[in-house]
Amino acid sequence: MTKTPQHDLSFDDWDEVMFPRDEVQDFDRVVDSALSRRGFLSGALAFGSGAAVMGTGMLHGSTAMAGQASRFAFEQLAPQTDGTVHVPEGYNWDVLVRWGDPLFGDAPEWSAETGIPTEGSDRVFGENTDGMELFHLGDTELLVVNSEYTNRKINLPAEQEGIPASADDVLRLQNFQGVTVMEVTEGDAGWEVVVDSPYNRRITHNTEMKIDGPAAGHDLLKTSADPTGTMSLGTLNNCGSGRTPWGTYLTCEENFNGYFGSTTGSHDGLPEVNVAGYKRYGIGTDGWGYDYHKWDARFDVSQNPNEPHRAGYIVEIDPWNPDATPIKHTALGRFKHENAAYALTPEGQVVVYMGDDERGEYMYKWVSRDIFVPGGDTSTLLSEGQLFVAKFNDDLTGTWVALTPEDTGMTEAEIAIFTRKAATEVSATTMDRPEWIAVNPTAVEAYCCLTNNSRRGLVEEDGSIRTNAAGEPMIPNGPNPREINRYGQIVRWRPHNDDHGAATFDWDLYVMVGNPTVHADQYAGTANMNEGNLFNSPDGMQIDSSGIIWIQTDGDDDNEGDFAGNGNNQMLAGDPVTGEIRRFLTGPNGCEVTGLTWSADKRTMFVGIQHPGAPFPDGDGSLPRSAIVTVKRDDNALVG
Ligand code: FEO
Ligand code: CA
Ligand code: CA
Ligand code: CA
Repeated sequence: MTKTPQHDLSFDDWDEVMFPRDEVQDFDRVVDSALSRRGFLSGALAFGSGAAVMGTGMLHGSTAMAGQASRFAFEQLAPQTDGTVHVPEGYNWDVLVRWGDPLFGDAPEWSAETGIPTEGSDRVFGENTDGMELFHLGDTELLVVNSEYTNRKINLPAEQEGIPASADDVLRLQNFQGVTVMEVTEGDAGWEVVVDSPYNRRITHNTEMKIDGPAAGHDLLKTSADPTGTMSLGTLNNCGSGRTPWGTYLTCEENFNGYFGSTTGSHDGLPEVNVAGYKRYGIGTDGWGYDYHKWDARFDVSQNPNEPHRAGYIVEIDPWNPDATPIKHTALGRFKHENAAYALTPEGQVVVYMGDDERGEYMYKWVSRDIFVPGGDTSTLLSEGQLFVAKFNDDLTGTWVALTPEDTGMTEAEIAIFTRKAATEVSATTMDRPEWIAVNPTAVEAYCCLTNNSRRGLVEEDGSIRTNAAGEPMIPNGPNPREINRYGQIVRWRPHNDDHGAATFDWDLYVMVGNPTVHADQYAGTANMNEGNLFNSPDGMQIDSSGIIWIQTDGDDDNEGDFAGNGNNQMLAGDPVTGEIRRFLTGPNGCEVTGLTWSADKRTMFVGIQHPGAPFPDGDGSLPRSAIVTVKRDDNALVG
C-alpha cells in the first residue's frame, strides 16, 4: 500500500483516521437501506448481485477459457518475494531512469548520504513515478511521467526524519513532485534519457497553470496572489495519466488534500462554504506531514482559504512545447482524480472516463459538446460539454446521470468545484475506490479497477453502516457486492448502441479478486482467479492495441493470511474474451507497480516501480529509489 509520509498508514487509512464518519447519522435512511439489503441478500443468494454478475460475465469467461487456447505468448511467472523485478522466460528488463537521475547536464549529482540539494532539484527525474504516456513525432520519443508524492523519510536522507525544517526544504519537496517530460532513445546499450534534450521539462508544485472551464474566475478560486482566479501555481499529487487524441498529456490530481493545513490549528472563522468543502474533500489542519503550510503561506488555509479549490483537477500538458502553460480543466470536475481514459463517440465527440479514488466515492464521464477533427480546433473539447456520474443498477444495467444545475441545485461553477457534492445530490453509486479506467480499443467497452474497500458494509458499534465522506452508508451494491472488501474487483461496462456517449450501459464484473486457496466463499473470487495467478488490489490498468488488459497492483504484499501466495505487487495480463488472467511481472517487495506505456514501435514496455521497500534498483548498500524499467522480448518482437 502507498504509505503516508510520516505514518505507517495507507493514504486512505489516514483519511479514515483524520475524518471519521459523521457523528450524526441519517439513522432512518441507514436502517431502511440495511433492511432492504438484507432481504436482497437472503439465503443461498447471500452473494446477491455478485452471483448474478458472475453468471453473465464469468461463466461465459470460464467456459471459453476451458475450450480455447491461451492468447498469451508467455508462461505464467511464479509469485516472487525478493527485492527486484522478474519477467517471464523469453523477456528481459532493464532500468531506464531512477528518481534523482539527471535530465540536464547541470543537474546536481545524486548522493546516497544527502540525496539531491534544493538547488537543481527541479533538474532531475521526479520521485515516486506513476502514470506515464509516450508521444512520438518522427524518430523523437517523449516520455511524460507523473511523480505522485515524496517519501521524505527514505529519500531525503539529509533531513532528520524527513520533516521539513525550512522553506528551502519545502521547495525541494515541491520540486521532486509533479510531472517530468523527457526525451528517451534506444541505442545499443538499451534505452536512456536524452540529457539536455530541448524537450526535457519539469513541472512542479510551483509551475504556473492556466485555469479554464466553468470555475475559472469564480470567487471561490480567487486568492491574494491571483485575484482573477484564473492562474494557479503547480499541479499536486499527480497520480494516473491520460492522453488526448490530439496528442497532449493529461495528469490527474489525486490526494491534493494532504498538502494543506492551517497554522492556527483550526478552521474557525473561515467561510462556511469553504469549511464544508474541506470536510467533503478531507482537508484538515495538519495536512499529511508535508508541512508546506508552515513554510509556504499558499498552503495555509487560515491565510489562503480558497487555495485548495485550485487543485483536484485534470491538467492538460503539451509535451512538444516546453514553454506551453499547462491548463487545469475545471469542467472535468474536482475530486481525487485517478486517471483519465478517452474514447470517441461514433460522431467524434470526446469522452473521458474518470474515477474518484476514495472509499465510497464515484465514477465519472465527460462528453464534449464539439467533435474532434484531426488537425482542427481542439480548444473547446475539454471545456465545453457535459459531466456525468455513474449509477449502477443491480440488474446489470446502469445510467450516466448528467450533473446539471437543474438536477443538483448548484451552479455550473459550483458543480465544477464541489463535484462530489453534485454527484451525491443525484444519488450516484458509491464505489470501492475507483482507480484506473481503461478503454478497450478492440471492442466498445471500458474497465475500471475498484481496488478494495475494507470499510464497505462495516457495522459500527451503534449498528449503523460505515459511511463515505458525504454520510452515505456504504452498503454493498451491484458492482461493489462484498462487505469488508480487501481484494477488489474490475467492473466492465458496454455502452448501449456501441456509443461511449450513450446515457445507458450494461455492466458485469470482469474479475472479482479473491484467494481460492484460503476461502471457499465470495472471498475466493471469480472463476478466473486460481492458485497460479493470485493478486490483490488491482490499481493501474492499460489495454494494448491487441486488446490485452494489463493490470497492475497496489496491494498487501505480506504474502500471508488472506494474501498467501500473492507475493510482491505485480503486473498481470488479462484476456477480455476468455477472462484468463496470467502473472507477467513482479516488482521488488514493498513497491507498487504503477504506470505503463509503450515505445513507438511497440517493442518495449515502460513499467513504473513506485516506493520500493528494498534497495532497488541499485542493490545492497543503496537507498530504495522509484524507477521506470523497460521490458522487451529477447527476440525483440512486439509487446503491445
Ligand atoms: Fe494514486 Fe489511487 O492511486
Ligand atoms: Ca501510489
Ligand atoms: Ca493508483
Ligand atoms: Ca492504490
